[in-house]
Order: sequence, then structure tokens, then C-alpha cells
Amino acid sequence: MTSLSRNSFPRDFVWGVATSSFQIEGAADADGKGASIWDDFCRVPGAIADASDGREACQHYQRWATDLDLIAALGVNAYRFSVSWPRVQPLGSGAFNDAGFAFYENLVDGLLARGIKPYLTLNHWDLPSALQAQGGWSERATVQRFVDYACEVARRLGDRVSSICTHNEPWVIAVLGHETGIFAPGLKSRKVAIQVAHHLFLSHGMAVTAMRQLGCSADLGIVLNLSPVEAATESPADREATRRAHDSGLRWYVEPLLQGVYPGEMLAELGEDAPTVMPGDMEKIRVPLDFLGINYYMRTVVSAAEPWDVKASGNPVTDMGWEVCPQGLTALLLRLHRDYALPPILITENGAAFKDEVSGAEVHDIQRQAYIQGHIAAVHEAMRQGVRVDGYFVWSLFDNFEWSSGYAKRFGIVRVDYDTQQRTLKDSALWYRNFLRATAAGGN
Ligand code: FCB
Repeated sequence: MTSLSRNSFPRDFVWGVATSSFQIEGAADADGKGASIWDDFCRVPGAIADASDGREACQHYQRWATDLDLIAALGVNAYRFSVSWPRVQPLGSGAFNDAGFAFYENLVDGLLARGIKPYLTLNHWDLPSALQAQGGWSERATVQRFVDYACEVARRLGDRVSSICTHNEPWVIAVLGHETGIFAPGLKSRKVAIQVAHHLFLSHGMAVTAMRQLGCSADLGIVLNLSPVEAATESPADREATRRAHDSGLRWYVEPLLQGVYPGEMLAELGEDAPTVMPGDMEKIRVPLDFLGINYYMRTVVSAAEPWDVKASGNPVTDMGWEVCPQGLTALLLRLHRDYALPPILITENGAAFKDEVSGAEVHDIQRQAYIQGHIAAVHEAMRQGVRVDGYFVWSLFDNFEWSSGYAKRFGIVRVDYDTQQRTLKDSALWYRNFLRATAAGGN
């Protein structure tokens, strides 16, 4: 494991860093951008831990060119970013905004000029507010709005990006956005959440089909946040709770996409919260995928009686309170490989929040470095055991707006000083750069 180098992976393996529009761009209403549900949610008292918002964020909208230089300096061959839907279509329907598109065209061209492959995500949660006013993802009409938006992005950028992901983490949008309400739009209904997930799946399938019909040459797929689920004990109650958690967190998201069905037991358990499914929907959802993106942060340990105490694991815990468990990533990949006929896998996000130790011009973050190193090794182990993984992206390039945690939690391998907007490569970034350099020179 210690001898692992870039050379241990296939030559064409994709090595990247990832961000999303709302978390880094700022420029909340520049050049005709419309409002998104996250702009609105940040104004809800108590919604964001530090009462911050995305108005400035990392000012990436203004600083994109030097930010691209920084990405290039890391030696990655790919960059995953998202398009802000209300920046390119302010109302989520009707007129598109050329000025907003110009930003992404410059970004994509700038990446290509630096030899970096663009990996584009269409929906990393910042739905136009105007669509939320009409019901947002709970309304079936939003599906067609998304397909129209996806096609326009594909027309303008599809020939230049390597990959287009429809949605980032439908579970988060559905459950955190519409059931627990801790994320935008802050609704609290399981029934609505289940319907939202259905509309996300349907819009994914229909958008992929429509983009393919346009002749879009980019790889098309979707990104899921997945976690291997383990029982805290072998007791029947814990095992049953684990089965349910696996069904609701993984099977509910994977099986419609890969098999065109909802898992039967959970469907029955949902009762009147079951989704409204129109004839033909499941066939439209199940489209061939060029890739399945997986975001992995931690495993899930389930205890029926009370929430499992992460301290019981003996593993380190991140600043988010998330257990560090790289073996969980190997276990997840092996389980998916065993249970499903998978398209090629990309690890589209993996990383950790820790407090940095700033010392002069240096930023020490040994725990983050160890986290990334350990998870790259975990991916390698799954590949050794037969899983096809085509790439790995660190979350995140920058410290950024971490949703309801605001700016208090730092995930970047590059530190952002929010007073000066200065960027500083942390030790984890220097480690990643050295790791990636190994093959360029042909050695290890
Ligand atoms: C994921 C999100 C990403 C970031 C990380 C920490 O769920 O996709 O935007 O917030 O978590």
C-alpha cells in the first residue's frame, strides 16, 4: 500500500479535483443570473450555521482564469465543475443567457487549452427559484424544463466536454431538501421527497436520451452518493434496520437507474408515500449509462435502538463528525460489482473537512492527506479485485461554501482566505501533485 503510485493505475486513469457552481462562483446576480433556491435558502434564519451565503464564495466567477492555472499546476488531467442553471437560464424556462454561457465557454476552453478534461455536472442543487415557485422538483413539469436546459448545454458545450452528469446526488436533493428540510428548498415531507426522487430519475433518463439524439459526444451519466451499510451488531433488529437503510439509501437510487425498477419491499413499505409513476417512466429512467459517478465520504453503521456512536469504531472522525473508513469504499465497490451489471465507475467526489494548521505560507493538513491517500488505495484495492473504476476526483479543489455548514467546514486541498481571496496549496495538494507527477516522468 505504501508503494502505491500513479503508475499502479491504468495510464488513462482520470485524476481530478471537483467543485460546484454555488459553492465557489459567487457573483450571485452578475450578468443577468437568476436566483437559485440556495440563494433563497441562505436567507432563512438559522438555515446556515454561520449565517453566510454564496454571494461572494470563492469569487471563482471573476478569478476563473488564475484558478485554472492553479488546477493545471496540480497536474490533474480532469476538472469536475457544475453549471449554475439560473446563470444560463435565469427563470429555468424560456430565454437563455448568453453572458452566463460565456462564463462556462471560457472555462471549458481554458481547461482544454491547459490540457485538462472538463467534467460537467448539470444539476448540483442550484435550481432556479422561478421553478421552485411553480413546485420545483415535486412538479412533473420540471422534468421537461430540465431536459430543455440539458439540451441547450449539450448544444453549446457538448462537443468540448468529456462528460456530462445530469444530477449530483439525487438522495441529497430528495431527502435533505424535501424530507428533513436541512437543505434547500427546506421542505419536510417524505411523500414529496419520494416524488422528487422520481422526477430526478425521470429527468435524468429523458435528458440523456435527448442529448444522445442531439449527437452529443460527451460521456453521459449521473452521480450518486453511496455508502456501504453495516449492522452495528448481529441482532435481528439491527440486521433488519440495516436492510432498510440499504434499500432506502442505495437500492432506491441504483435500481431504477440500472434496472428500471423500484425495490419491491421498500415500495410496499412506503404505502401512500409511494411515488406516482406514469406508464413508460421506468423505461425512460433506465437508459444505458456511459458512467456511474459515486461520491463516497463514509460508511453507514446502523443500530436499531439508538444512533450508532462513531467513537465506537476507534477510527478518526472528520470535522463534519464523519468516520474515516477507506475500507468502506472498497466494500461499497465490491458489493455494487457483485449485485449489479455496472457501467464504468468514476469516484466523482471523495475528501474530508479538517481544521488546517496555518503556519506562515504553509498549510498543514496531514489528516486530509492521509484521508485522500487511504481512499486512493481503497479504490486501487477494489480495482485489483475486479471492479472497473476509470477515475478519481478529490472533493474539493477549494475550501468553499459547505451548504448548511457555511464556510466553517473546509474541504479544500487549496486553502481560501476569505478576507483576501488568496489561495494557498495545502500539504494535501502538494502531496497530490507529487503523486500525480510520478508517471509524467515515467517513474514511480
Ligand atoms: C457532497 C456534495 C458536495 C460537498 C460534499 C462535502 O454531498 O456533493 O457538494 O458538499 O458533500
